[in-house]
Amino acid sequence: MPARILTEIDTLPCDLYIFRGPRPILYASCGGDLERVLDRARRGMSFMVREIDSELLRGALAAALPKVMANNAMTAVERSKTAYSISAKVLTPIFTRESALDREGIVLTHKAIDAITTHLLEDEEMVWAMVATMQKHPSVHTHAINTAVYGIVLARFARFGPPDVIRDVARAGLLHDIGKNRVSKAILDKPSHLDSGEWMEMRLHVKAGHDMVVRALGYQPSYAHMIAEHHERCDGSGYPAGRIATGIALDSQLVGIVDAFDALTTRRPYRAPVSAFDALHIMRVGMRGQFSDELLREFIKLLGGFNAMTAKMEGADLARVMGAAG
Ligand SMILES: [Fe+2]
Repeated sequence: MPARILTEIDTLPCDLYIFRGPRPILYASCGGDLERVLDRARRGMSFMVREIDSELLRGALAAALPKVMANNAMTAVERSKTAYSISAKVLTPIFTRESALDREGIVLTHKAIDAITTHLLEDEEMVWAMVATMQKHPSVHTHAINTAVYGIVLARFARFGPPDVIRDVARAGLLHDIGKNRVSKAILDKPSHLDSGEWMEMRLHVKAGHDMVVRALGYQPSYAHMIAEHHERCDGSGYPAGRIATGIALDSQLVGIVDAFDALTTRRPYRAPVSAFDALHIMRVGMRGQFSDELLREFIKLLGGFNAMTAKMEGADLARVMGAAG
């Protein structure tokens, strides 16, 4: 684990191990000297925890996330990178181990993403830092974090609703593809297009994800419909129900936009990533009618204002995308 993820925990929540030769040896005990650990970690030493202790570490990291986001001694980019690393550590088991998707696991994901939402709603600099440091690894948990962050940022920019509405968009963004836990890895990683049987299985992930979250929590959370609807499209071409715009909740349409954008701009087993500009062009022209025109325009304006994109998408180009649908 990278050193920075430990910087805001109060005490070591569990024993830390290092490799000496072929086997791990105890380096620091639970509750031990955190400064000594951080000092070594800053010099490149990495640590491991026992599998049995990993939940303790995840809990401590989720609790530390608000402090990381608020730590003005760090630059916005440092805070953002640390928040991504912590989120990855907290979330990875949720997306890789069926057993981790229990009530405690989901509450932990709420805690982590709520801390990010709170700060992104208050801090403009952090918004851009989070977008700029976004990781584009083709993994389910990275896509989940990105979708949540784009969702928060777009909802904030479009004045989509009060903080609790944006908090729900973020939670749904994080968990929208959790149902892919139920799709076989051979299908998820297939380097070519899916045949009809495989596509049928892939499409089941929206209902599976919705049901998994409801079952784990023991109630229907207020964001569950976004998980179920994130592949519905305004022109009726989506799934599972093929509803048209008036039948799809607006927050589900927003999650659908940021999900599609992050998917297009990330490498997939069957295709290379496209640039942000090209992704927006595809969504505006190639996928014409599938997304809310109003929300997509807001998203284009938002990304057009982002410094890192302006080199690629300056005045004329932005106008071309904005006007592409006529
Ligand atoms: Fe999906």
